[in-house]
Amino acid sequence: MDKEKKAKSTDPIAVFDSGLGGISVVRKLVKLLPNENIIYFGDSKNAPYGTKDRDELLGLCDRNIGMLLDMGAKCVIIACNTATSAAAAYLREKYPFLPIIGMEPAVKPASKIAEKPKVLVLATPVTISGVKLKDLIHCFDEEASFTLLPAPELVRFVESGVNDNADSPELYSYLRELFKDFGPSEPSSSPGLRFDAVVLGCTHFPFVRRTILKALGYEVPVFDGREGTCRQAERMLSEAGLLNKSGKPGKVELLNSDETKLPLEKALLEY
Ligand code: DGL
Repeated sequence: MDKEKKAKSTDPIAVFDSGLGGISVVRKLVKLLPNENIIYFGDSKNAPYGTKDRDELLGLCDRNIGMLLDMGAKCVIIACNTATSAAAAYLREKYPFLPIIGMEPAVKPASKIAEKPKVLVLATPVTISGVKLKDLIHCFDEEASFTLLPAPELVRFVESGVNDNADSPELYSYLRELFKDFGPSEPSSSPGLRFDAVVLGCTHFPFVRRTILKALGYEVPVFDGREGTCRQAERMLSEAGLLNKSGKPGKVELLNSDETKLPLEKALLEY
């Protein structure tokens, strides 16, 4: 098939992630653009992406986009902070005819939550160590102070079916250990380490948002980049004259490189 064929507004928006996390983006997308047809590809067979090296990530993302183009995608949303950080620039160069929308950790709104807020940014090791996040934070480091914390195991928990509804003691202990230096609710903990906001810089993490706050020991506003990404997709499609205005509810097709994950994807879409 000619990959540079003229796109139509009824063609699907393709969304991909390393696995189940991007479903959290699809949920927002369906609410914002209910007429759009959506193809979701979760690459659970190759999850996690957040601990892989750049060359491997480029290869996986390239393969994902090739497959989604063959399925007729009119644009691609990289519903993965890790893949965006490592591969978005490369992919935009390789597929200049294709609108590609990535994820950005919601550092900007978090930095405006208070006067000089303390912001905890949780993400995968690749995102935390990437230049993209460093550059983004640099734009706001006079307005807020940031603590960047890699949480590699969180992706594995979500991939194994754990979420806020599952009430997993293992997940809670993992998070308590992760946050041991940052103000769990014991009276002895230093008030100086209390955060004013948390940024979830990985699309798997919204599924364990309540457990993250419980382990942190206090309520704070939580930000993530899903809404911003979906609005950016809406803008790009509108500018390209590719928004689906059929007025009919769109279809959502779920695909996964590990087919045993499809029931989990369906459950998370409705969760
Ligand atoms: N959900 C992805 C992200 O937003 C990737 C997680 C992973 O596979 O490590 O970073």
